[in-house]
Amino acid sequence: MKEYAFNMHKLPVGVLGASGYAGQELCALADRHPHFELVFAAAHSRAGESLRLPGREIVMVSADSVALGDASVIFSALPHGASASWVIKAQQSGAKVVDLSADLRPGQPEVAIPDLDAPYGLPELNRDAIRTAQVVANPGCYPTATLLGLLPLVTRELLLPGAPVVVDAASGVTGAGNAPRPDLLFGEVTEDFRAYGVGNSHRHLYEMRATLDACGADLDLLFTPHLLPVARGILATITVTLREPLTDPLALFRTHYAVEPFVEIANAPPRLREVQHRNVARIFVTPIAHARRPMLQIFVAIDNLVKGAAGQAIQNANLLCDFDETAGLPL
Ligand SMILES: NC(=O)c1ccc[n+]([C@@H]2O[C@H](COP(=O)([O-])OP(=O)(O)OC[C@H]3O[C@@H](n4cnc5c(N)ncnc54)[C@H](OP(=O)(O)O)[C@@H]3O)[C@@H](O)[C@H]2O)c1
Repeated sequence: MKEYAFNMHKLPVGVLGASGYAGQELCALADRHPHFELVFAAAHSRAGESLRLPGREIVMVSADSVALGDASVIFSALPHGASASWVIKAQQSGAKVVDLSADLRPGQPEVAIPDLDAPYGLPELNRDAIRTAQVVANPGCYPTATLLGLLPLVTRELLLPGAPVVVDAASGVTGAGNAPRPDLLFGEVTEDFRAYGVGNSHRHLYEMRATLDACGADLDLLFTPHLLPVARGILATITVTLREPLTDPLALFRTHYAVEPFVEIANAPPRLREVQHRNVARIFVTPIAHARRPMLQIFVAIDNLVKGAAGQAIQNANLLCDFDETAGLPL
């Protein structure tokens, strides 16, 4: 594929769910990708409307009218529940598929496509499996932030077994998609701040638990999301208890992510404006003072639409196609 793209043509790609927030971001990234050519952008109720991309305008088509076989890679940015059936059709057309919905992610209460082996598309954890897959389950936005914050500790078995891991995370309103909802009106959201999915009930817990379980973690994950009155960005604050004190946790995180192009270890708690419109996770970690046990606080900031959705999907597509993993992605 690398040769094909470099020497002959760009690789044709299509986006399902192009009118949504994640789909629009995907179309923009795919359209200026050095090795991809956007051959269709399909919408549902908004088929026929135009979509403004940097430098040009395209018309979104109905998914039913699309020849899926025209694309070598298909991104499904459809709501969970609606996505799986399109993933099957896209796969049957011969395309490689990146599914941004929760349908194929690990730990879901219902298996959407039995017998499909779709690796969880967190490249910092699963890069080798992604390279050889036909279908990849792109992670959720909160799980991307949470897991990247925990992996350096979990994979080294540094957490106190059985101790709770507390994740307080806040997301901008694009995390909820762009279908109209009264509770997401400007007047309801602006100058306010509230928790939702309380009582450890958010659906992202499934994939986080399943991934941490697969890494051998023995912990209670306590996750509380909040709605932040900004358009985009997630900040997760994670509190953990260690088996033993760590002399330099920041150095450990720097070592763990030394070769990762999309993880930055910061010297201070990250800010949303440092990650917006970028395909990066920016992380800071510090010991917690005045606690009876050795504890750490980890802060992770991402752009929910880029590293938390469309950017990570392009990163996965680059791996599927054997391109440079950073191709077409905003660092
Ligand atoms: N937003 C984020 O930060 C984020 C992050 C990570 C993952 N995701 C995942 O990415 C997917 C898209 O999220 P989003 O935020 O972009 O949602 P969204 O803004 O609500 O967009 C949903 C898209 O799906 C289409 N659609 C809606 N119902 C459909 C149906 N029954 N059949 C076919 N198409 C349908 C919509 O088309 P019309 O508008 O034309 O009707 C639209 O293009 C979701 O699975 C979400 O969980 C989102």
